[in-house]
Amino acid sequence: MLLLLLLQVLASCLWLGHGEVVTSLISTCPQFFFQKTPPNAALTPQNPAWICQRYGNKYYFATLYDKSRRIPVYSAYLYQPGHGKRCQRWMVEPQLVGPQYPKTMETESYVLHELKVSKQELQSSQAVLRDYEHLEGFHRGHLNPCSHNYDSSSCNSTFTLTNIVPQNAKLNQGAWKRYEMTIMKSKTQGCAETYVVVGSVPGSNFFGNRVNNPSHIWSGACCKTTSNTIRAWGVIAENTKNAVQELSLGELEDKLTDHYGRGNVYLFHSSCPRQ
Ligand SMILES: *[C@@H]1O[C@H](CO)[C@@H](O)[C@H](O)[C@H]1NC(C)=O
Repeated sequence: MLLLLLLQVLASCLWLGHGEVVTSLISTCPQFFFQKTPPNAALTPQNPAWICQRYGNKYYFATLYDKSRRIPVYSAYLYQPGHGKRCQRWMVEPQLVGPQYPKTMETESYVLHELKVSKQELQSSQAVLRDYEHLEGFHRGHLNPCSHNYDSSSCNSTFTLTNIVPQNAKLNQGAWKRYEMTIMKSKTQGCAETYVVVGSVPGSNFFGNRVNNPSHIWSGACCKTTSNTIRAWGVIAENTKNAVQELSLGELEDKLTDHYGRGNVYLFHSSCPRQ
């Protein structure tokens, strides 16, 4: 009888652990999505992890991570540009190693030495810094960039490798930077609250047989204006060129529908205009 009870407790613990990983971002951190509505399932990969990005004791943004390709599908956040000072302390996600580990981003050395995770366990669960060293012509490209964050802790929170993709260095420093700094600034004139989803389309090759080289990087935004109207837009870039194409939200979703090939993509709630 006691054994049965023990088994039951054990089973429910396992089930809970499992639920944590597969549950969608709606239930865990809805606040980073316009009208609490995340993109639809047409973006979800075969081996997903939904991450509420926690740094210290606070949530800063949300990420859908592709555990097989070891890159994020997208990061979702509120656009709040500020004066966050850039830091270079890169972090990883202990919860991807297993549900028994903390749901707070930590440095690799903390995970290895304090949480006593083996190097092999860590590396099989996600991309690590070593994957991004010596990538000729590619940078660690932020999906949610430090510059769209209001202070140094929110900026720090973007330095987790689950928010990073290998990005063409020229694009990262050129047209994509211009999108982050200039295009976003002009598009958000008159916006009271801007919700952003930035993502990457997986490509056909990998670096070191581990980390996918995305074919495209894209961004969609939906904003509520100070006069209570709603505006939306999008951009997309090929990860081989230094150019960013500006689009309507509907045009971006159509392109993503083609690129992902898993049905119609909807990035935002239906009240965000597609034209
Ligand atoms: C941001 O990261 C830097 C470098 O690790 C650290 O010195 C600083 O205290 C962090 N800031 C906040 C507010 O967490």
